[in-house]
Amino acid sequence: MKHIDIVDVLKGDYLGKEVTVCGWVRTSRDSSAVAFLELSDGTCFSRLQVVVDKAKLTLDPECTRNGASVLVKGEIVKAYRGDGVELNATAVCLLGACPPEYPIQKKRTTLEFLRGIPHLRLRTNTFNAVFRVRSIAAQAIHRFFHERHYVYVNTPLITASDCEGAGEMFRVTTQPYNAKYESEEAYYKDDFFGQKAGLSVSGQLEGEVAAMAFSKIYTFGPSFRAENSNTTKHLSEFWHVEPEVAFAELPDIIEIAEEMIKYVISAVLTECPDEMTFFDNFMEKGLKDKLYNVVNSKFGVLDYTDAIEILKKADVNFNYPVEWGCDLQTEHEKYLTDVVMKKPVFVINYPKEIKSFYMKQNADGKTVAATDLLVPGIGEIIGCSEREADPEKLLQAMKTRNMDIGAYKQYIDLRTFGSVPHSGFGLGFERIVMYMTGIENIRDVTLFPRSVGNIS
Ligand code: 4AD
Ligand code: MG
Repeated sequence: MKHIDIVDVLKGDYLGKEVTVCGWVRTSRDSSAVAFLELSDGTCFSRLQVVVDKAKLTLDPECTRNGASVLVKGEIVKAYRGDGVELNATAVCLLGACPPEYPIQKKRTTLEFLRGIPHLRLRTNTFNAVFRVRSIAAQAIHRFFHERHYVYVNTPLITASDCEGAGEMFRVTTQPYNAKYESEEAYYKDDFFGQKAGLSVSGQLEGEVAAMAFSKIYTFGPSFRAENSNTTKHLSEFWHVEPEVAFAELPDIIEIAEEMIKYVISAVLTECPDEMTFFDNFMEKGLKDKLYNVVNSKFGVLDYTDAIEILKKADVNFNYPVEWGCDLQTEHEKYLTDVVMKKPVFVINYPKEIKSFYMKQNADGKTVAATDLLVPGIGEIIGCSEREADPEKLLQAMKTRNMDIGAYKQYIDLRTFGSVPHSGFGLGFERIVMYMTGIENIRDVTLFPRSVGNIS
């Protein structure tokens, strides 16, 4: 179907020209003399007003229904009101009728209600804006790394190793449900890969392999977590941005992470002005100012040990008690970002016991060169560390955790053959989209969210 995107029509380049556009009717006003259709084809946030002079054109009433899809021909003219353009129709053709039961109606419906109709909710203003911001942010991430000579690699989704060593993987199997085996070992031996396999929780370990050849790599793909956390910021399937950088220590990777976050936010502010104004008006008052501040100021850096002292002195009754050695809970993270720092903050040097085996052990023998980037309103959006480059220390950390060392032979080999200091991080893509849009539930920045008990 030859037609022009509404985004291009609205730029004004077609003024005085005959065009054909396609789209869905978002609202309409119909009188005996004239009808107005507000048309959206999803190529931009704004809609195109179509004016139908009924003296010249018979309009099928089905074309005025909210949700109907139409093809319209006509001339682009200066808008009667405002300084934009509108389309004077010479033909309006119904492509798909939309009955009155169409659940997306003019009145503002709740995000919760729309979650129940994931196949239709994308046609609302909110989701139109969310997914364009998400798309622009993804493009910006690729551009950021491309401009800095990173190689984009694709790590496997099916894996035999659990990167975080935390046993929260989905299993991948072709075993029939009623298979009978004498032992767990026999069961896995007979399975598709001849051993236990699962969906990757992170591409990091394979990313490190690539970084040891290309110096700078990143992955951008899905990760899977079978953790049973039914919260507003956890998904079972999320998109994960994971750069891995050779010849980089913790302060270097922190600098890269901060620069990347600012780059993505700037891109979205510049490339999605209408969407960001919409979010500022309807999702989070002051959102744009917040983001401009983030771009223009330095992120905080706070040592874990100092964070614990701050939390202990806080005049707040936390549900989870605070002691040196404890993992920071959402309530603690929120206090640090929302009350104390009021900006994004890198918490650094966590106790080694609460972090992963691959993190570089600090000289104090107690902490690791790891950091989480916490942002106001959400908490952790990045998990980051310098990696342990010393094979002896790595082995010792794995043994303490009772890990199957044989399964990590290649990973350990990297430390034997030309090991270098290297660091990397994982950004939860949905979480930064939440931060940039003011959307409070991760399910609302994901096309078809998967979470415990929910795969509809
Ligand atoms: O902190 P995490 O678990 O770190 C890693 O996976 C490292 N291997 C990353 C690396 O160094 N290459 O996860 C990284 C980020 C978190 O900060 C969070 O933003 C996001 O991934 N994330 C989730 N997002 C949505 N739903 C979940 N269940 C998530 N789990 C982690
Ligand atoms: Mg983490």
